[in-house]
Order: sequence, then structure tokens, then C-alpha cells
Amino acid sequence: MNRREFLKGTAWMGAAALAGGCMTEGFSLCSSGATMQGFAAPPLKKVRVGLIGLGSRGMAAALRLPKIPGVTLAAVAEVRGARIDLARKAFAEEKLAFPPNVYGDGDADGWKRMCERDDLDVIYITTPWHLHVPNGLYAMDNGKHAFIEVPAALTVDDCWALVEKSEKTSLHCMQLENCCYGEAEMFALNLCRQGILGELVHGEGGYIHNLAIEDYMPEMLQKRHGCGYHDYWRLKWNAAHKGNQYPTHGLGPVCQYMNINRGDKMDFLVSLESDEANHSGYARWKFPAGSWQARKKIEMGDMNTTLVKTAKGRSIMIQHDVASPRPYSRINRISGTKGILEGCYFADSMNPVTDGCYCRYGWRENPDDALHSFFDAKKAEEMRIRYRHPLWKQAGELAKAVGGHGGMDFLMDLRWAYCLQNALPLDMDVYDLASWCSICELSERSVRSNSRPQDIPDFTRGGWKSAKPLGIWGIDTAKMDFRKVSTGAAGSQMEI
Ligand SMILES: NC(=O)c1ccc[n+]([C@@H]2O[C@H](COP(=O)([O-])OP(=O)(O)OC[C@H]3O[C@@H](n4cnc5c(N)ncnc54)[C@H](O)[C@@H]3O)[C@@H](O)[C@H]2O)c1
Repeated sequence: MNRREFLKGTAWMGAAALAGGCMTEGFSLCSSGATMQGFAAPPLKKVRVGLIGLGSRGMAAALRLPKIPGVTLAAVAEVRGARIDLARKAFAEEKLAFPPNVYGDGDADGWKRMCERDDLDVIYITTPWHLHVPNGLYAMDNGKHAFIEVPAALTVDDCWALVEKSEKTSLHCMQLENCCYGEAEMFALNLCRQGILGELVHGEGGYIHNLAIEDYMPEMLQKRHGCGYHDYWRLKWNAAHKGNQYPTHGLGPVCQYMNINRGDKMDFLVSLESDEANHSGYARWKFPAGSWQARKKIEMGDMNTTLVKTAKGRSIMIQHDVASPRPYSRINRISGTKGILEGCYFADSMNPVTDGCYCRYGWRENPDDALHSFFDAKKAEEMRIRYRHPLWKQAGELAKAVGGHGGMDFLMDLRWAYCLQNALPLDMDVYDLASWCSICELSERSVRSNSRPQDIPDFTRGGWKSAKPLGIWGIDTAKMDFRKVSTGAAGSQMEI
């Protein structure tokens, strides 16, 4: 049996069932391809990854993946030779072996040949948005799990295409939504799983990040920091669209708190947005009159606000603003019958005065407590330690040392690697990908039709009613070899 036949076969199932890890997390094994809910793939002791797109996100991932025990970055594909040279240099500086197989380098289809190799398990996709779906479909057509950067898809049809391909091939198609692994987000998830906030009623998420300089001056950033959106891809997309085209950083964690697709589902949305002022205003301020930048017409309004109603009657607000001069925020607000949490960073990583989105929370222990204020610093710290998510307890310090958005990128990769190695379902499946990403097109449709409601498709086809809620998961550190995890800081090493 060659590697690909083995992946498609069922020989692994007995061993996986015996291992029992997935059963303790409340999932059932599934290999039929009929539904990917609770799906666990055959165990992969060693996970061999091919990565497409060595831009700013891909470069960071390429340097991070070799630090995950049991993961090998076996091949990379990048169309720009200069990025490949830069990556080689960065690998040498960190004393990491550069992947032996390089594709692309002037050939925009080189990534296809990488996907066609027989000895890769995962294609890790960090390309511009318009390539995500073709990359992902081709990866699965060639027998590889597809892990795709956010947003994995931008249209409802493309969301369905990924769902159907994943079901047909029985391969994972996961969106790399790192914000679900943030320390504050996982703390919130733990509170929700344990019922500390009571019955959940309302959630809010957002992506508020002034990207105007990145959008208009990728070349300057490329020179200064070695990264910048290749060929203005983000500006081009946002200039042609309205609605929330980047919903998942704020929405993903809220959906996990609320068990969306696992007991509840997003039912419909309405979306409204302000006029556009900041993107074009920046361009007219910065560039000479008559330049293409100053003349560029931008469709996307500055602030988009989308409201979602769930089947079980909860509400979610999602915002998107990538042009206004405002401090960064993902909002991350979740409120229930007993309490509330808001913010996506803890006080030790942010200045609570200057940075508006640091995490605060409070809950009541008796019905007469009106909860008019958040916990004070002492109680907040006590509760932060008590309810730290197990994954953060297990690997949080290592994750912070490796870095990548405060450690959440490393924890995301560590967790999917652990799941693949131990035949466990992933924390985010293709239905999560599709429902979270469908907001891109549906919010635009709503904005363009005077905020008319738009139904959100049930990508689980009814499966959400019986799917089990997400458990409180982590990793068994004894099952991963952490002896030689280089944190990347001049080759320094750290153990859990
Ligand atoms: N999760 C996060 O926190 C986060 C943060 C930033 C970006 N992103 C996402 O990551 C993705 C990449 O963003 P980025 O900022 O790295 O963009 P980028 O432009 O820096 O990188 C994209 C790379 O893909 C390469 N590429 C383009 N066409 C290719 C082809 N045909 N074959 C091979 N390579 C090709 C480009 O040359 C470039 O190096 C986007 O989807 C973005 O939304 C996610």
C-alpha cells in the first residue's frame, strides 16, 4: 500500500479508535466522506508540509513550521525569486535547513507541481485571496489536506466548492484562523465552555486595523520591512467591493464560544456601512493630484457593521474598518446571563490606557449582583490564572517565545499538528470555514440592497443540530517531542 492509498484506506481506524483520544473529546470517527463534522483523518506520525506563497505571512509560517514537533516543511512554492532568496537567508540566520524542494520562481503555476507530489500531507496556503480557492481545491484533488489563510473564500459558491471537495475527498480543509488561539480568546472559550458567563446571548467581533499605508505603499514596506502586499492585491479587492471582506478574525472566536455549527447556526444577517472617506482621503493627502493613487475610486465604505441572528436567537455584531486612523481592535466581546468579557489582549501585553482593546471581564455569583463594573486588577489576575485555557497552560510560554502574534500562530499550528498526529478532529472544520467566510459576499449583498436581510446557508445541511459542542482541548505534551524546539532567537532552545 503506498502512502496515498494508506491515507484513503481504513487500516488506521482501529488504531485510532483504540487510542481513544477523539472519543474522550466527544467526537466520533468518520471516514465516509458524507460529512466532515467530527472527521478525523488517518494518523500521521510525521506531517510533511508544502507551503504556497512566501510573502509576509508565508515567510513567518515557513520559519515557524519546522519548530512544531513532528512537522517537516518539505517544499515551498513562490512565484517571486526575490522572496525565495530572502527565505533562504532567513532560514540560514535561524540555522534551519531550507526546504529541499522549491517550486515557482517565475512560474505562476509552479505550486501545482508541488501539490502533485506524492510525499506531502498538507498544503499550507498563504497566497493572496484570489488564489486561496484554486490552491485549496487543487491540493485536495491531489490528495492533500488544505490549510488556507483567512479569508479562505470570498464567495458563497466558493465556500460550497471547498465544502463539497473536502467531503468528496475526505480531506481536511481548514481555515488558518489564528485568532481562535489568542490567549484572551481561549480564556474566553474556556469561560464559555464552563458556563461561567451563563447562557450566551450576544457576541461582537471585528477587524479594525488601519492598513492604508500597507495598501498603497507595498513597495516601500517591502524595502523597509521585507514584506508588503504583492501587486496591491488587497487594495484592488477592497477597491472593488463593499461589505466585510475580512470577517473571520473577529467572528471565528465568537462562533466557537457560541457553538455555531455544533448546536446553533448563523441564520441571517443585515449589513450597513458608512461612506468611504479614509482610503481615498489618505491617497489624496499622500500622493500628487493626478497620480493613480489619488484618482483611484474605492467602493468599500470605511466602517462596515454586520449583524447576525442565530437559529437559537443569539445576536452577533461584526465590524470591519481597514482605513480609519484608529488603534487596532478585534473587539472580542461575549456576554451571557452571568457576565461579560471584552478585548483580545491581557494587560501584560498591552497598555490599558493607550490600547483600547485589552481584555477585561466580570461575572456575578448571585442574582442580586448587578455587575456594574469589571473585575478589579487583583481579581482579574486571579481569574486569569484560574481559567487559563489548558492549551495555553501547556504550551503558552513556548508559543510566546517562538512568537507570531503573541504566540497564537504557533499554538494554532501546534494544535492541528497534534490532531493530525493523533487522528483527532480539527478544532475548525470546513463548515466553520464556509459559514465564517460566507459573510464576505452576504454582507456585500446586504449593503448593496439597503441592508436587506440575507440568509446564511447551512453548510452542514442540518448537521449542526446533532453535532457535539467543541470540547476543552489541549495537547498531551508527552506525545510530542519538544526536546529540541528552537525558538528562533539566535538558535536558542526551550522545552515545555
Ligand atoms: N492570519 C493572520 O493573522 C494574517 C495576517 C496577515 C495576512 N493574512 C493572510 O495571509 C495571506 C497572505 O497575506 P500576506 O500579507 O502574506 O501577502 P503577501 O502579498 O505578502 O504574500 C503573498 C505571497 O504569495 C505569492 N504568490 C502570489 N502568486 C503566487 C503564485 N501563483 N505562486 C506562488 N506564490 C504566489 C506572492 O509573491 C507573495 O509573496 C492573505 O490571505 C492574508 O489575508 C493573515
